[in-house]
Amino acid sequence: MINTESSLFGVRFIGSGSAVPDRVLTNNDLAQMVDTTDEWIASRTGIRERHIADGAGDSVANLAAQAGQKAIAAAGLAPQDIDLIILSTSTSDDLFGTAGRVQKILGAEHAVAFDLVAACSGFVFGLVTASQYIQTGAYKNVLLIGADVLSRWVDWQDRRTCILFGDGAGALVVQASNPSHPQNNLLGFEMRSDGRGNDLLNINYLGRSTFESITMNGQEVYRFAVRRVPEVIEKSLHKANLEVHDLDWLIMHQANQRIIDAVVNRFGIDPAKAVSNMGKYGNTSAASIPIALDEWVQAGKIQADHLIAIAGFGAGLSWGSAVFRWG
Ligand code: COA
Repeated sequence: MINTESSLFGVRFIGSGSAVPDRVLTNNDLAQMVDTTDEWIASRTGIRERHIADGAGDSVANLAAQAGQKAIAAAGLAPQDIDLIILSTSTSDDLFGTAGRVQKILGAEHAVAFDLVAACSGFVFGLVTASQYIQTGAYKNVLLIGADVLSRWVDWQDRRTCILFGDGAGALVVQASNPSHPQNNLLGFEMRSDGRGNDLLNINYLGRSTFESITMNGQEVYRFAVRRVPEVIEKSLHKANLEVHDLDWLIMHQANQRIIDAVVNRFGIDPAKAVSNMGKYGNTSAASIPIALDEWVQAGKIQADHLIAIAGFGAGLSWGSAVFRWG
């Protein structure tokens, strides 16, 4: 539970942005590459197309910086106002980290920047991390970015995995509330990991500066998500003294429509509250939640004080949820 009484600073969520590569790869395009069909992919996953990085311009750093720039502008800030940049990514342009490149592109010269690796849970873990720095009073304006270019690590001849993933970036500005008007909009969170499931989803180091392509046990990952994700959503709501029916929006990691449907059914909530845009983007890993958040904000669906639960899950295994009010 977040101890708001001992926190000097509350947390606010004040601006979002997103960016995806221009190139679109449809299910029918994939059917020219591997033995699959639009019908198979759409009915098993809900995915119809995805954006795929095309050349150096679509690096993680560039996509992340584009999303970050929009989020900073939406928050009414300048890059020089940012104190901390957290880049959640598992597909870094550089094993030493990509956050420094993002800082340079943005011209966020007063920030400290680092990468956070937690696969498809990266945005949730990043949001909690950003909030901790704010609540201790260490930083005031934090730019959190989820960005991934998994297309680099997909085996384009493996129909079990290549149909799932897309590329993109989403960003969120998290800000300390004014101490004279304390307002804490992060209401609860729960983060989990279980290394016993680590071999279910990997991009392993092979030696001699080489990594393998994505390997995944799809059925086990599916079972894990459907069982574990509702638990952390309930736990984070419980910490906030709220119930699932209080939510305005549930933004889950956009991996598979059937996983979202299963969670919606289990909770008995209105399916219209469960944000879904994977049909257009596929699974963009750490970027999927902030891209969906930004789309709903841009469309005017998410409004000030709306109650939102986000939930991420993926390799590690890792999973987590956070409940917050927008604005
Ligand atoms: N097109 C056509 N057939 C395909 C296919 C494709 N793209 N991919 C797999 N198949 C085939 C399999 O070869 C298998 O055929 P077989 O029965 O002759 O062996 C059959 O379809 C069923 O495969 P299975 O793996 O059992 O399918 P599934 O119903 O579990 O669906 C996933 C596969 C990947 C869509 C599903 O398991 C899933 O979404 N899992 C979660 C993955 C995930 O979200 N990962 C990211 C987490 S962050």
